[in-house]
Amino acid sequence: MFQYHCLNPIASVGLDLFSDAYKKVDQIEEAEAVLVRSAAMHDMELPGRLAAVARAGAGVNNIPLDKCAEQGIVVFNTPGANANGVKELVIAAMLYASRDLMGGIEWCNENQNDENIAKTAEKQKKNFAGTEISGKKLGVIGLGAIGVLVANAATHLGMEVLGYDPYISVNAAWSLSRSVRHISNVEDIYRECDYITIHVPLLDSTRKMINAEAIALMKPTAIVLNFARDLLVDEEAMVDALAAGKLKKYVSDFPNPTTVGAKGCIVTPHLGASTAESEDNCAIMAVREVRDYMENGNIVHSVNFPDCSMGACMTAGRIGILHRNAKGMLSHFTTILGDAGINIDEMANKAKGDYAYALIDVDTAIGADVIEKLSATEGVLRVRKIK
Ligand code: MLT
Repeated sequence: MFQYHCLNPIASVGLDLFSDAYKKVDQIEEAEAVLVRSAAMHDMELPGRLAAVARAGAGVNNIPLDKCAEQGIVVFNTPGANANGVKELVIAAMLYASRDLMGGIEWCNENQNDENIAKTAEKQKKNFAGTEISGKKLGVIGLGAIGVLVANAATHLGMEVLGYDPYISVNAAWSLSRSVRHISNVEDIYRECDYITIHVPLLDSTRKMINAEAIALMKPTAIVLNFARDLLVDEEAMVDALAAGKLKKYVSDFPNPTTVGAKGCIVTPHLGASTAESEDNCAIMAVREVRDYMENGNIVHSVNFPDCSMGACMTAGRIGILHRNAKGMLSHFTTILGDAGINIDEMANKAKGDYAYALIDVDTAIGADVIEKLSATEGVLRVRKIK
């Protein structure tokens, strides 16, 4: 029986995919797998039996990835599962940042007792007028699942779209509309665009990437949209630029004391993926990833270990070895198996940064002594006997 724990509410349509071999537990200490949305895990003690963490969402800045890797815990995310939800909100944000829709709605509510509201509205509406997005230039920084959807949708709304992503994946490149101009210097986006939207993960290399220098290159009429993470933007510099009239608007989905209520800032309470569809998609994908890892040892969509998949095990035994990406590891494993008289039928070994994963199918049942020897090998982080 596998035990899992949810650190946040996870959509039942996903949890229902766990078979009878899984039991939900109330304490993380009892769990082999954890499902999480935004709960902060950095200061948590991670139990020794924990093998997998699945983030129902894309961002993983609430999870200590290296600490997990060192403890042999594979962290998964669900790329693309909530991309449409976020894309729709980004499109809405461009529209509500271009006209004072909220001001107009508020005005109507405030004047609900005015019998002549229809007439008065005609006089007042100029206060809430704005511009259209068709014909304007949109710069999309980061062309992952969300960035591509935003870029493509914007082309259908008549926008001229510039896309920037030095690390674009082959899949994303295939999905990107041919109308999107792929540019290699992000400063072209800062200089040229009327709308700039950022869709990159929060990493040390991307922290505050929209800084005072970047903002200084932007047009005073530019609108910056941030539905990725607040720390990608130097928000103090952003608020200063808005106050000085050097930028038109900053739309953020991440409320904090710097931006909420500041001139030119429109802030929503992290609603990007808060749709029934996105929550369901993320939960379904997260549970499938956990099951594939627990039952088959396959890693798909991990953020701290390489993806490595061999389907279902058709031989007598399978082991998964999480290890450091160091020289000679495989020869240690094959020697230990060979010495135990175990023949390898199929094997995959993948590396990602400092960490690697070996998945090995063998023709004989694997004994506890072999697992012990493999576990004791220097550089091995965890060995799992899958079958
Ligand atoms: C994500 O990282 O997927 C989004 O910010 C949505 C979320 O955290 O739920």
